[in-house]
Amino acid sequence: MKNVGFIGWRGMVGSVLMQRMVEERDFDAIRPVFFSTSQSGQAAPAFGAHTGGTLQDAYSLDALRALDIIVTCQGGDYTSEIYPKLRASGWQGYWIDAASSLRMEDDAIIILDPVNQHVIEQGLNNGIKTFVGGNCTVSLMLMSLGGLFAEGLVEWVSVATYQAASGGGARHMRELLSQMGMLHNLVAAELADPASAILDIERKVTRLGRSGDLPVDNFGVPLAGSLIPWIDKQLPNGQSREEWKGQAETNKILNASPVIPVDGLCVRVGALRCHSQAFTIKLNKDISVSSIESLLASHNEWVSVVPNDREITMRDLTPAAVTGTLSTPVGRLRKLNMGPQYLSAFTVGDQLLWGAAEPLRRMLRQLA
Ligand code: HSE
Repeated sequence: MKNVGFIGWRGMVGSVLMQRMVEERDFDAIRPVFFSTSQSGQAAPAFGAHTGGTLQDAYSLDALRALDIIVTCQGGDYTSEIYPKLRASGWQGYWIDAASSLRMEDDAIIILDPVNQHVIEQGLNNGIKTFVGGNCTVSLMLMSLGGLFAEGLVEWVSVATYQAASGGGARHMRELLSQMGMLHNLVAAELADPASAILDIERKVTRLGRSGDLPVDNFGVPLAGSLIPWIDKQLPNGQSREEWKGQAETNKILNASPVIPVDGLCVRVGALRCHSQAFTIKLNKDISVSSIESLLASHNEWVSVVPNDREITMRDLTPAAVTGTLSTPVGRLRKLNMGPQYLSAFTVGDQLLWGAAEPLRRMLRQLA
């Protein structure tokens, strides 16, 4: 059995990972060692059948060097500090990471096995030891649209995202809900009175949104009742870093050549933990929508095609319907007015499952 160290298992992505590993009995196949950046020496958690032991120090190179596999959801700063030292010390184990720091390194593979198992296998055969989960929007796009990419049908992709608060982190989710609560509290009495004037209610809500009294430490501006058309840092070319990742990571995951252009606008909305994305896809040939639907639906066991029907779409193709599940539905499939090679699509996926924890869990399973 392999010795597997877990760092950042208590955070949001880490907790989802632990929960999934328990559900899939992954702990039966490994000897887990739990680490902490601040509480080493305290009792280790019990997952699966493993109990007892103490938390190890996540900054102890000696403790880390004893591991066959390290799985970290601790974040980019931890990776940047520890990974180079650990490798420089000669450690040859497998490093599985949720953070983006190492994603674009030549000796790292972005893992999304239902989409790029062939790339993962090639990497393993070539001695690659570093495996990194992809950006959530990229992974969720490829889980839903994988069938088109696998058949080489995509000339380019333009995307508008509707990204949930969870992508920012746990504190962002709390902030959104606090903002929502404050806005509602302010007008609860008027709302309960059917005779009250909606524009008066709206004015009060808007005034509070602009007052500076809503908590905005994490998002910087109010998200409740609004949206934020910028995610992550600003790059010199005018893209956000989140937008930059779309093309860079998609092509790396697919090992695509020539490069498939992917670009668009990334937008934060008031959803909790499901990212949605609206796509315009230029196909490199005119194929029927029914053929497209079959290709998409048969690509992996988590994607499903939602018929382009109002009732079904409203029921099945929303964050509310998909949150907490592994399904990555795609719908709103139709040819656009621009011509027979232009396809629209809308996808929804849980940002913490296929968007973060699940690819890591499955990579660990392969290695263990
Ligand atoms: N960067 C993403 C977001 C989440 O902010 O929604 C991580 O992939």
